[in-house]
Amino acid sequence: MPYEAKPLPFAELKGISQKTMEIHHDKLYAGYVAKKNEIQEKLAKLAASGELASANQTHSELRALKDGETFAVNGVYLHEWYFDVLGGDGVPTGALKEAIENHYGSLQNFLNYFSACGLAARGWVVLAWDSHDRELRVYTGDSHNQGGVWGAQPIIVLDVYEHAYFIDYGAERKTYIADFWKNLNWKKADELYLAAIQ
Ligand SMILES: [Fe+2]
Repeated sequence: MPYEAKPLPFAELKGISQKTMEIHHDKLYAGYVAKKNEIQEKLAKLAASGELASANQTHSELRALKDGETFAVNGVYLHEWYFDVLGGDGVPTGALKEAIENHYGSLQNFLNYFSACGLAARGWVVLAWDSHDRELRVYTGDSHNQGGVWGAQPIIVLDVYEHAYFIDYGAERKTYIADFWKNLNWKKADELYLAAIQ
């Protein structure tokens, strides 16, 4: 079954324009969904064709498709997590807020750390529940298929690629990140946290 693009869970945001979201969701995210479907269809055909003997780590059709697959699939899922926690009132709440305060000393410490990670990363910042050591962790990625940690369930995902903010903020990524917090849907993030820790 082909994967279907999900609609945005909000109508508008503070600071981040409709134009940015149209490009980000309707063009870029939808493009990753289409590529995910295309690549996975090609992989199924290749696996069924009996041509797997040509697999090679320097270059092969299978290698190119597998590399594209993780880029496209993570491109889809990371964007869905990012869109999912936007459209809120920015007021921290729930068990997640408490867990953050316990782990990072205070909410402000966490916001400072996560925001700084947003300046240090080239692609993604993710507050995740790491199911291995059962702790909250902030992980970063420079690409959709770089930097992620398997077994760490995303809770708050921030896209820091320039396409996410350049139209509205120019090179002021810091202001974009400050506005990200103003738009954060903490209730949704809390639901994700509660589901992750189970
Ligand atoms: Fe993006």
